[in-house]
Amino acid sequence: MSVSESTASTRPRTGGAIVRGAKLQDAVNIFELVNSLSGDGTLLRRNYAEICENVRDFAVAESESGIFLGCGALHLYGPHLAEVRSIVVKPEAKGQGAGGRLLRALLEEAEVQGVVSVCLFTRIPDFFFHFGFRVADRTTLPDKIYKDCQACPRLYACDEVAMVRGPLPRIAVLGPTRIAQPELVKLQVGHIAHPVEEAAAGATAVGTTPKL
Ligand SMILES: CC(C)(COP(=O)(O)OP(=O)(O)OC[C@H]1O[C@@H](n2cnc3c(N)ncnc32)[C@H](O)[C@@H]1OP(=O)(O)O)[C@@H](O)C(=O)NCCC(=O)NCCS
Repeated sequence: MSVSESTASTRPRTGGAIVRGAKLQDAVNIFELVNSLSGDGTLLRRNYAEICENVRDFAVAESESGIFLGCGALHLYGPHLAEVRSIVVKPEAKGQGAGGRLLRALLEEAEVQGVVSVCLFTRIPDFFFHFGFRVADRTTLPDKIYKDCQACPRLYACDEVAMVRGPLPRIAVLGPTRIAQPELVKLQVGHIAHPVEEAAAGATAVGTTPKL
């Protein structure tokens, strides 16, 4: 089933939002909009550094005159699974097709990457039913659980619905760390002498006056 067949809107739309890949210059708008809805748990909080680092995951919707209207991200776990994250439209732009366009763009990106299983966690499953997602058992998505859920304060009080579009993933790449990680860099403890101090100490040791 192609993306365009499965996500066809039932409502004709004229004009409206343009969707494009995000640039670093969009990071502030993305940060502010996503976090405006993270307080009540509608969206997962994203910090600014994380948004900059992952800005290529994001698509943004803007008006024909270039005004930022909304955003969404596609996180790639691997060829077996991608996840739609942080999809949101400004309150004043809702109901005009921007959210649907963003979601279609993210699904097209999954298709370009050759990923057929796309998941998400949401409180508004009805919106995503329009686009071919179905409710799934969250235990079928261990990658998502290890990436986000285990560190989430709502782990045991989650009110989100897990959804999947396409087949369930048959593998996972994330999991508990079983092997102790070796120390990569030994940290120095104690006083580390400044090179000038070190030279002075050496000079004193042989009985000469250091010239600094
Ligand atoms: C969800 C959201 C992105 C939708 O954006 P939008 O621009 O209002 O959506 P669209 O206008 O493109 O609507 C597309 C279709 O979905 C439907 N729809 C929109 N919001 C819906 C909702 N909350 N529940 C059910 N259907 C919904 C529309 O009626 C439309 O259907 P149609 O094409 O048959 O007419 C937007 O409401 C939003 O930002 N919500 C707050 C953030 C949020 O909850 N994000 C999801 C986190 S997982």
